[in-house]
Amino acid sequence: MTMDDIAARGLVLLGCGKMGSAMLMGWLAGGLPAGSVYVRDPAPSDWLSGTGVHLNTDLPVEPAIVLIAVKPQMMAEALPVLLPMGNGETLFLSVAAGTSIATYERVLGAESPIIRAMPNTPAAIGRGITAIIGNAHASADHLDAAETLLSAVGQVVRLDAESQMDAVTGVSGSGPAYVFHMIECLAQAGEAQGLSSDLALELARTTVAGAGALAMNSGESPEQLRVNVTSPNGTTQAGLDILMDEATGLPPLIERTVAAAVNRSRELANG
Ligand SMILES: NC(=O)c1ccc[n+]([C@@H]2O[C@H](COP(=O)([O-])OP(=O)(O)OC[C@H]3O[C@@H](n4cnc5c(N)ncnc54)[C@H](OP(=O)(O)O)[C@@H]3O)[C@@H](O)[C@H]2O)c1
Repeated sequence: MTMDDIAARGLVLLGCGKMGSAMLMGWLAGGLPAGSVYVRDPAPSDWLSGTGVHLNTDLPVEPAIVLIAVKPQMMAEALPVLLPMGNGETLFLSVAAGTSIATYERVLGAESPIIRAMPNTPAAIGRGITAIIGNAHASADHLDAAETLLSAVGQVVRLDAESQMDAVTGVSGSGPAYVFHMIECLAQAGEAQGLSSDLALELARTTVAGAGALAMNSGESPEQLRVNVTSPNGTTQAGLDILMDEATGLPPLIERTVAAAVNRSRELANG
């Protein structure tokens, strides 16, 4: 399925909040005609109203793709409008956290091609990472189409099993918030050492952004990058001796952090 097929058969977007808008922005910028897009959202933003997409109109009978981007708690109310498209050629692609493929199969029909995706918030600036997994009716072609669409907001990786989705949620789905908190803590620590709050925040934020970019672009492992900047008995080593302590440092803390998020993801999936 190419972008031309999607343009010809139509794309339905159910829910156009932060995640839906980020993706729609990418597709429109990438050349998808606004006239091929049908959006359902009870409170459309000014930006959305100005795009020229079909807004809260009747939906095509058999669109190429339906992207489901409503909050999990709105799902039961939102899905029925999609029922006529189930068990056919339409591919359902969901970015909702915690709603399982089995739930969609139950509501939309077990013969429907369904792909579940877990993006993260850097998608808003095209720097997200999204993991995808399809049901038995999702073909290689469907997965390729989902990957093409989701590439509009960043990198895409494929999973082997839906059970991995909870771990993905705990690492990359919730991960940006962990890093934001790292920035907050680094800035607070700088303030505690006598820097102004503005300066401390600028140093912390730019350091995390720069280190992240270096980790992506240098071709060396994060471990090697760390070793490269740690001179024996120097300042970085003094700091890392605290941070890397196996009993009280970051390793056990991050392990518990991710485990808590993964457990919560499992709980949400089980209702
Ligand atoms: N944001 C993230 O980083 C992120 C990451 C991973 C996964 N996700 C998933 O992406 C999904 C969307 O998240 P979001 O952050 O984009 O949430 P959001 O900004 O609240 O967007 C959801 C949109 O759906 C609309 N909506 C509510 N009921 C609807 C209905 N019956 N029919 C059609 N549209 C309806 C909402 O309108 P109202 O505002 O008027 O209710 C809102 O515009 C969630 O399921 C979330 O789990 C988000």
